[in-house]
Amino acid sequence: MMVGKKFFKACAVAVLALSCACGALAKEKVILDTDMVEGFDDGMAMLMLATSPEIELLGVTITLGNTWVAEGTAHALRQLEAVKMEWKIPVMMGIDMPTRAGRQATLMEEIRTFGSGFDGYWGAYSSVRPDDWKAVYRTKYGHEPTCAPMDGHAVTFIIETVRRNPGEVTIVEIGAPCNLAAAIRMAPDIVPLIKRVIYMGGAFFVPGNTTPRAEFNWWCDPEAARTCVRAPFREQIVVPLDACHRMPYGAPKLAELIRLTKNDIIRPMHQAKYDFVYGSGKARFQLFMWDLVAAAVCIDETLITDSVTAFIDVDTTYGSGYGQALVYVTGVPPLGAQKVKFVTDIDTVRIWKMIDDLCASL
Ligand code: BDR
Ligand code: CA
Repeated sequence: MMVGKKFFKACAVAVLALSCACGALAKEKVILDTDMVEGFDDGMAMLMLATSPEIELLGVTITLGNTWVAEGTAHALRQLEAVKMEWKIPVMMGIDMPTRAGRQATLMEEIRTFGSGFDGYWGAYSSVRPDDWKAVYRTKYGHEPTCAPMDGHAVTFIIETVRRNPGEVTIVEIGAPCNLAAAIRMAPDIVPLIKRVIYMGGAFFVPGNTTPRAEFNWWCDPEAARTCVRAPFREQIVVPLDACHRMPYGAPKLAELIRLTKNDIIRPMHQAKYDFVYGSGKARFQLFMWDLVAAAVCIDETLITDSVTAFIDVDTTYGSGYGQALVYVTGVPPLGAQKVKFVTDIDTVRIWKMIDDLCASL
């Protein structure tokens, strides 16, 4: 009888140890959908997720926003090469066109009519769209790439990956959400299969950065943003400008991050950003950590120190509120709006440490 008890106890301990070990090993499966730039912010957000022991980065899907898709693809591949992960993490090219036809052609008229925000930044829309990612890569980096994006489209990749991993995939959405919107329009069955969506997007109780009312990612394709936030996902977490404004930084901090970064491919990218923003002696615009906050929150949700759970929507009326994030704290939300958690405060000390450590580890 005594032996039986002992044996039972030993088994229970073993099962507990095994389940703890499995728990420790269970990584969060993530697809990163991004309008990729070099270094801060999208590039470093990707590297934060790619190198995190808590995350299994299943793929990086490229969308429109800061850059056109051919540019974003070249940037993503080069930065994965920098950390020798170019064969480990697939990159897929995605949608290069906003929902509203002719948007780029009428952009200046749009800005004149509806006004502009404090950044005066239009991302890809202010440049000619390249088609060939390889040509972009060659021109920028002066040699042939050692890798390539995967065959197939980003939207198909999202659909198939979610279907293969029901209830397990987190989508981290840090560009214009065109790929995700297309995926859920084409395959609505994936909506309940996605574990959660974490966006960097929107501005709720603070002004926009691209127009007086709209934040850049959602302004890039307001119709796509609305399709996404109106989808009945299990969970949606939004990291808006309200939270990102808690982490402004300037020339001294960027210089420190450059010093911390040992990687010979990534460090010049930070330096180029420094020269672009501060080169004239006067800052071109205020920098924030934007997408890194979303990546950090994906790794560790306890970094959220304050949030609001409410019905939200995105204004798609082509007027001065085009792309504005709307929140219904009281009153009746519009039909189809979903409740999301949007972040209003974050643990800035811990996120800065994660960023410093990331730079130093590359
Ligand atoms: C967002 O817009 C882009 O410029 C940044 O990468 C970030 O995703 C901030 O509004
Ligand atoms: Ca981005």
